[in-house]
Amino acid sequence: MDKILVLDFGSQYSHLICRRIREFSVYAELVPFDISYEEIQKHNPKGIIFSGGPSSVYSSEAPVPENKIFEMDLPLLGICYGHQLIVDKFGGKVKRANKEYGSSLLTIDNDSDLLNGIGESVRAWMSHGDEAEEIPSGFKIIGHTEGAKAAAIASDEKSVYGIQFHPEVVHTEQGTEILKNFVLKVCKAKQEWTMEGFIDSAIEKISKIDGNVLCGVSGGIDSTVVALLIDKAIGDRLKCVFVNNGLLRLNEEKEVEEMFKDNFKVNFTSVDAGNQFLEKLKGVEDPELKRKIVGEEFIHVFTNFAEKEGPFKWLAQGTLYPDVIESGVSKGPADVIKSHHNVGGLPDWLNLEILEPLRELYKDEVRQIAKILGVPEKLFMRHPFPGPGLSVRIMGEITQTKLQISKIASKIVEEELMESGFYTKVWQAYAAVGDDKAVGVVGDERKYGNIVMIRVVDSIDAMTADWTRLPHGVLEKMSNRITNEIEDVTWVTYTISSKPPATIEPQ
Ligand code: XMP
Repeated sequence: MDKILVLDFGSQYSHLICRRIREFSVYAELVPFDISYEEIQKHNPKGIIFSGGPSSVYSSEAPVPENKIFEMDLPLLGICYGHQLIVDKFGGKVKRANKEYGSSLLTIDNDSDLLNGIGESVRAWMSHGDEAEEIPSGFKIIGHTEGAKAAAIASDEKSVYGIQFHPEVVHTEQGTEILKNFVLKVCKAKQEWTMEGFIDSAIEKISKIDGNVLCGVSGGIDSTVVALLIDKAIGDRLKCVFVNNGLLRLNEEKEVEEMFKDNFKVNFTSVDAGNQFLEKLKGVEDPELKRKIVGEEFIHVFTNFAEKEGPFKWLAQGTLYPDVIESGVSKGPADVIKSHHNVGGLPDWLNLEILEPLRELYKDEVRQIAKILGVPEKLFMRHPFPGPGLSVRIMGEITQTKLQISKIASKIVEEELMESGFYTKVWQAYAAVGDDKAVGVVGDERKYGNIVMIRVVDSIDAMTADWTRLPHGVLEKMSNRITNEIEDVTWVTYTISSKPPATIEPQ
């Protein structure tokens, strides 16, 4: 399959470049900037893109790729820092300039393969401190902004281009068209990356493994898709296990079991280990210790299952591409099947090889696959839920009372968000509970009850988040329902901390 390699110089937008390119069905892969020339050759790419990055090309610590890469007879596009690198390496000059940040008007000066058909001017997203002062010989300026006279340069002859702005962000008008010009017209890459194609090739690869597979499923989209792919390949050698750890959302264990039983034919077992988890968590207040105990208990449950139902050779997981890159576990290229055991938190003695069919995919691609495989629509819109479950939403010791309060109150929050149309617009929403109590009056009686904290946040990637400005009417309804429907609750509060400095989960 034709491939574009994106060398990552540390921009927060590096992943976006790959995603945008994949959106028009060309496979793009993010690799570290210091990838060797030999490695690049093995990839056999149709073109290379240098991402942006926070450095200045004149800094002694500036990330610089191998020199041979500039001599390759391959189309090259530099974005932001990548643009400056191209100017510098091909013999031009970069200078410190006034910072240009945000949307600027890019005027197109010259016809080129890169900006062909883009029009006379577009709004373009800039974020830079340096700029090209002199462009290398053999290049021409094809676009400028008020702050950067060489905001876009080209050597159509060499098929080398540099742009100071970010075509990958939505704020750049026609950004995708510019990337398409480079990838489809300059690199002549074929649009062969489709999720139907991915499904076929994943099934083919999985079919070739020997031994039995144990797949932990949570009811979330990633592990469900993993289970379905493996089932299609080697269904008779797959066992899926769902662990009820007692820390799930209200009725979640029933809903997950029903979803699997009603929709799929995969070999599914539900293990009720709620008491086992809650017993281990008794008296524990420290948030980190709670997480550790939950993690360890999961492994015990898996091990017991494997001993009874095994032998298993593989443990399947729903690891996605950003996890692979960000965990630093793998530097770059991601195979569909990786036979090394390298996932943090799983002990070596488990002695299982790891099967991660989604390691080269982004979340939106997994959603597309889920649709193709017939995963129910309801699952797509479900908010993310943390692995350690309600243990991170209950402050202090986990008790049955607090569990019930958090479960029912969270359900009410979800229902009211759905009713008001906000559920699909927000990132996450729940009700947390701790040991704080407050006085209330019920009828004529004074009551000392729990305080519930509603948290609803907007986010794009969970790295940062802001509290959602919900209409007062929606909050009022949530509050009324929570105090009316849960006997132990007297006060309801709304958390108005963003991330940072807070986090999305309270623990
Ligand atoms: P924080 O609280 O760090 O959460 O802002 C960011 C996102 O990650 C989720 N989260 C977890 N997910 N295991 C998970 O699978 C965990 O231990 C965990 N802790 C937080 C959280 O729900 C939010 O979406």
